[in-house]
Amino acid sequence: MAKNLLKGFKHFSLTIEDDIAWLKIDVKGEAANVINPEVVTELDNACDEVAKLSVKGMILCSGKSTGFIAGADVKKFREITDPEEAKAFIQAGHTACQKLEDLSIPTVAMVEGFCMGGGLEVALSCDYIIVDDAPSTKLSLPEVKLGIHPGFGGTVRSIRKIGVLQAMPMMLTGKNILPRQAKKMGLADMCVPIRQLRSSAIQLVLRKPAKKQAPKSAKLLEMGPMRKVVAMQMRKQVSSKAIQEHYPAPYALINLWETHGSAGNEMYAAEAESVLQLGMTDTARNLARVFFLQNRLKSLGDKNLFTPKHVHVIGGGVMGGDIAAWCAMQGMKVTIQDISTDALGRVMGRATKGFKRRYRKDKFRIMQAQDNLNPDLHGHGIKSADVIIEAIYENLEAKQSIFKDVEAKAKKDAIIATNTSSIPLNDIAKVMKKPQRLVGLHFFNPVFKMPLLEIIYTPKKTNATVIKQAQSFGAHIGKLPLPVKSSPGFLINRILMPYILEGVTAQQEGIPVSVVDKAAVDYGMPMGPLELADTVGLDICLHVGKILADTVGVTLPNTLDSEVAAGKLGKKSGEGFYQWKNGKKQKTNDNDWSGDMQQLQNRLIDKLTNESQKCLDEGIVEDADLLDAGVIFGTGFAPFRGGPMNALNEAN
Ligand code: NAI
Repeated sequence: MAKNLLKGFKHFSLTIEDDIAWLKIDVKGEAANVINPEVVTELDNACDEVAKLSVKGMILCSGKSTGFIAGADVKKFREITDPEEAKAFIQAGHTACQKLEDLSIPTVAMVEGFCMGGGLEVALSCDYIIVDDAPSTKLSLPEVKLGIHPGFGGTVRSIRKIGVLQAMPMMLTGKNILPRQAKKMGLADMCVPIRQLRSSAIQLVLRKPAKKQAPKSAKLLEMGPMRKVVAMQMRKQVSSKAIQEHYPAPYALINLWETHGSAGNEMYAAEAESVLQLGMTDTARNLARVFFLQNRLKSLGDKNLFTPKHVHVIGGGVMGGDIAAWCAMQGMKVTIQDISTDALGRVMGRATKGFKRRYRKDKFRIMQAQDNLNPDLHGHGIKSADVIIEAIYENLEAKQSIFKDVEAKAKKDAIIATNTSSIPLNDIAKVMKKPQRLVGLHFFNPVFKMPLLEIIYTPKKTNATVIKQAQSFGAHIGKLPLPVKSSPGFLINRILMPYILEGVTAQQEGIPVSVVDKAAVDYGMPMGPLELADTVGLDICLHVGKILADTVGVTLPNTLDSEVAAGKLGKKSGEGFYQWKNGKKQKTNDNDWSGDMQQLQNRLIDKLTNESQKCLDEGIVEDADLLDAGVIFGTGFAPFRGGPMNALNEAN
């Protein structure tokens, strides 16, 4: 084995093979390579060592099987509260990346697996980036999701390499770029099968092709007046997705480029200053919190606990159909049972559409998902399934009769679950010989979009292993599993209902529909309460409202009853609080209201946060962080506020 030339380094090693230096990053004590101040210092020192060598070039690679570099160590980053310390870290990152870029020999970043955030910034400091073509390899600059933007010179280097029209959307959305796409847009210089990665990286060093640069047309956009026009357009696009007051990072990024352009060196220093300012905002702090909350939910599902291969879904309606399609897409064999052959036909049609939308032109994956999904009119799948999910209409007796049958036929260790949204688990389980086997797997509509999965259990009744296995199943199908005590409305519907009802009451008092919704959206909610009511269906709101009235202590506003009686059910009937055409909300002109907007906003949001507090007090979920996580991923509650409990604490 070649000798390591680095003495006293914890995270890097340097070897020479055939006149080429191999700088390997393998961050100690971490499953994935992450960037923290110590790693940055070592990268800087390692560059000094490489500069002393007489070699043909240098290849930067990872010593981990988990990927190249996953980005900054958010945990460590979060611990830095002193602005001076943060400044020192950012500057050290800038210096190290500059040293890497300034090496006089050809340098290659050899990327296999994740290359994200600071990792991609380091890679961009090399002359060339080579990636393997596996779908698990992903490149991204996702800092904006943490309320900041790249801070190690990546804003400048990405624009220089691929041009502003490609680099900015990448940074403004934080989206993953797959290997072939990376090559096509010029972010990667080469994309090769894994078996050729090493030899191709060596070839790059030896051949030294011209370095990739943004096309001339992109450089024209850097010219003073053009820059203003492009920046203006970008700002317009961003403003349709995020309000500057809540999410300052994308705006700061556009300003940075508009003011300095990437041609000279001014943008580097300005980038450091800008990211420092952003890092100190409440938004950045709360988005980092959301990142950890998401990881916490992920960690609740231990994939090793349970291996689901076959899922059987009973009831192929709105929910059952989509649950079945979703599981088929996650590689599971799925049988879908319904009493209606028409319903089964609709499931297959809708599922195929969903697969095509998801996989676009990847015919193989579309075919695979289609293969996985099979109609099963008579429920033969029950006896061999690892997970059985009931999703028939909301009726206690009907569900009970299903579970009697299922329990008699299912494998001993299969998960037996219901997707009920309002019936207490215990009531359904009563008819079972082993009621402790029944668990709730409460999916949200639309299944393809909503990441949360409530795992419903009855305290002191539901078998603890079953709960854990259900959590494991959630992880296997790429959902965020949250254990929730069985009680009316579980967690999410219970918290949303008072918010919706308060909106309806406000409207009943004469406040225009769009004003009510604007107050909530201005707070950061993805949808106002009245649009949400229309989307869920006013009949469902009425039904759930009645179930929850006692628990949450509300009187149902009359409007709900009268609208439902008049057949105005919201989106699905074409009319509710809004008019709907082809599933799209029609604009209203009822903005005329002279009341106090702040007061209206408080009134709506207080309902939601107060109910959250009550749920926490009643132990519906285990702790405040899990409650915040559930509400953010189950309702889209303003992520930049870090969750309702966090918002409550900050307000007090
Ligand atoms: P749906 O009315 O769209 O579908 C129910 C399906 O079950 C129909 O296709 C029907 O033919 C079938 N079915 C009825 N009896 C059956 C039986 N004995 N065996 C086999 N299939 C039978 O209902 P949806 O909206 O999909 O709701 C299903 C369940 O999911 C309900 O418990 C509901 O509370 C719950 N849920 C609904 C959500 C929603 O947004 N629609 C959200 C979360 C949960």
